[in-house]
Amino acid sequence: MVTDSFIPQSDLPPFPNAWYVFALSSELASGKLIARRFAGQEVTVFRTECGNVAAVESYCPHLGAHFGYGGKVKGEVLQCPFHGFEFNGSGQCTATGYGTAVPPKTRLKTWPVREQNGFILVYHHAQGMDPDWEVPSIDTTEWTPLICRTYELNDHPQETTENSVDFGHFTYVHDYQAPRTIRDLEIKGPFLFTGYEVKRTFDVLGVKLGEYTLTFEPHVYGLGFSMVNVRVPVFGVEGRFWVLPTPTDERKLTLRLALRLKKWPTRLGALASKLLAYYILKNYAKDASMDFPIWENKRYLPVPALAEGDGPIWKYRRWARQFYGQPATIVTG
Ligand code: FES
Ligand SMILES: [Fe+2]
Repeated sequence: MVTDSFIPQSDLPPFPNAWYVFALSSELASGKLIARRFAGQEVTVFRTECGNVAAVESYCPHLGAHFGYGGKVKGEVLQCPFHGFEFNGSGQCTATGYGTAVPPKTRLKTWPVREQNGFILVYHHAQGMDPDWEVPSIDTTEWTPLICRTYELNDHPQETTENSVDFGHFTYVHDYQAPRTIRDLEIKGPFLFTGYEVKRTFDVLGVKLGEYTLTFEPHVYGLGFSMVNVRVPVFGVEGRFWVLPTPTDERKLTLRLALRLKKWPTRLGALASKLLAYYILKNYAKDASMDFPIWENKRYLPVPALAEGDGPIWKYRRWARQFYGQPATIVTG
């Protein structure tokens, strides 16, 4: 007999094909490795002495040791802790630990990797295919250093990313007032863009001191990487916020919330914006965390009861189908 607890909360395939943030660049110095769960597998990302980054499976094909437990980067190769076999970034075994011939066909599974704008991205594809799109790189010279907060949540990347188009929850969950769409949903292949304006109040010790207007424009690059351009004109603040859900296992993800602020001119201004970035990240995380209990406990409804007042959820879901190997539905407007 099937009881309720055996009904899966989601009938979405667990790991959409996408670029996901595996780590921040700042976490991985030259000559170091990081081993983590990634889309249901054990993956090791290492940086060689020359600075090249590679992603390989964490289990050695010799006798199965795990690189995360004593593995080392030696020059340009990854060395297994068990018998010293060495592997390059293409997964090829370049040496045994004994100076003998490498057993034929000894190699590690690899994943495509990119490093850009402070993020180390790894591409997951259910059939191991190479990516046919990239997350755009941006100019960060006028922006404060990347800062980030990390959470472990029970959810699926499609569900968390749906927040960008869930217009109806802005008021109920986040207490944004008078929300309005300032950029209609636009879909370009694996990218999705939209934009909103909302009013927020600021108060001190519960006393309302005023109201300000905030705009935010989500740029959604697949289901693992969203960049949100935020502006608060009255304070002269411009920010780039990232929402980065990386699936580790089925319905489990590491959610990174990251931020850069546009530096104010002058050296003092640059310092002030750096400090302000920490304050804003704290508040941004507080805002985002209001979604967490809902995300972690909701179930995915393939056929939701949508009503007037909802955002373009259906268009979003049709767009999202392409990340499961189904053709994208190009929707405009
Ligand atoms: S298990 Fe890796 S070298 Fe033997
Ligand atoms: Fe939200």
